[in-house]
Amino acid sequence: MSRSALSALLAVAAASVVLAQPDPADPTPLVDKHYAYPSGIPYQVDYNTAAIRGPQVGYNICNSTTENQQSMCQTSFVNHIDDFCLWAPPKPNSTIGDTEQEEVAWCTKPGHGTRLIPSGALTGVQLIKTPNYIQVVGFIDQTQINMAADDYGGELDPHGADLRGNPLGGLMYSNAFPSNGGNNASYQQVIDWTNFMGGSAFCMKICDPAGQNQQGLCQNIYDRLGCEYNAPNNAQNHVFEVCEGDDMSPPGIYTSNGQTMTYYQPAESLGPITTVPYTPVVPASSNCVTYQSAQLYSGQPAGTPVASSTPTAKPTGSTGNGGSGSGTRTGSAGAPSPTTNGASAMGVSTVAGLAGVLFAMAFLS
Ligand SMILES: *[C@@H]1O[C@H](CO)[C@@H](O)[C@H](O)[C@H]1NC(C)=O
Ligand SMILES: *[C@@H]1O[C@H](CO)[C@@H](O)[C@H](O)[C@H]1NC(C)=O
Ligand SMILES: *[C@@H]1O[C@H](CO)[C@@H](O)[C@H](O)[C@H]1NC(C)=O
Repeated sequence: MSRSALSALLAVAAASVVLAQPDPADPTPLVDKHYAYPSGIPYQVDYNTAAIRGPQVGYNICNSTTENQQSMCQTSFVNHIDDFCLWAPPKPNSTIGDTEQEEVAWCTKPGHGTRLIPSGALTGVQLIKTPNYIQVVGFIDQTQINMAADDYGGELDPHGADLRGNPLGGLMYSNAFPSNGGNNASYQQVIDWTNFMGGSAFCMKICDPAGQNQQGLCQNIYDRLGCEYNAPNNAQNHVFEVCEGDDMSPPGIYTSNGQTMTYYQPAESLGPITTVPYTPVVPASSNCVTYQSAQLYSGQPAGTPVASSTPTAKPTGSTGNGGSGSGTRTGSAGAPSPTTNGASAMGVSTVAGLAGVLFAMAFLS
């Protein structure tokens, strides 16, 4: 690796070492808490009231009695374009940055014991199945899922400053990986996933627990770079489609002059990210099948549209930073809003990066 890449890496590692603090009251990382669905799931996976950030705000056993728009269910699913959930706040007009530890599951389909994304809130969704992950990218009236209209958002993942996850105790399941054998009634726990929410868009990526490099492909340390870098895509507003695709190059990994390089996001204390040394490549996709929204979504409660919150059409269809390819970022889906407390989001991400950085160092050295 180049000297600059190495020094960037060491800077991140140093910052991370200072901040990485498993909570003594609950030292087991969320990614190491595995439960068979549904029988093995406890009421709460993260319940210790002595924990520094407190226990999780919701619960993990979710059923017909918890299925309503006040549900505090924190067990989520990504199954198919008509059956997936996003993490979003429990209370109206919240920012992801302020509420990342308490997000609850908002799903497209009844039956998971969660809140439902109101009818019409999703205005375009692309689901891509690759050899090693499933990625759902889309456009949403985010005010319908309790997000402030102007929130540029942030990233949710099962790591976090204390390795307890954002949201705390949030679990993820899927019935859609090939390793599940096509049995929709059987669910696998997803160990590594990322979900960027904000800027009237979202990207959710879940990595196959039986696949290759789930840690790298669902890397959580690039939380300031948004969907363009973490889930490169060509999703378009007003289009609902399912495609097959190739795996992306893991976030942060790129090729320059024939050499494989690793970029690390700088600490937030160094100021806004103005340049990134590479332009993410949207992986090839094929066999896309398009749908009408009404074919996919039913049984959702009516929404209450807010005039000012119409999702912005992105000309290139790239969720994230507009897909300009300039290597600069202006902030969009998933990038912490300049008006929110980015510091807390970034503190978390830097810490969350520890395991990933150390892994990368071992791998590269
Ligand atoms: C339904 O979920 C609630 C909340 O987690 C739980 O208290 C209750 O025991 C569950 N009911 C059944 C029948 O599992
Ligand atoms: C949302 O919160 C902001 C900041 O607190 C406030 O200015 C705005 O009026 C609120 N919007 C709604 C729709 O409640
Ligand atoms: C599983 O669910 C998917 C998505 O809803 C559906 O297309 C498929 O036909 C289902 N498979 C079986 C065996 O029911």
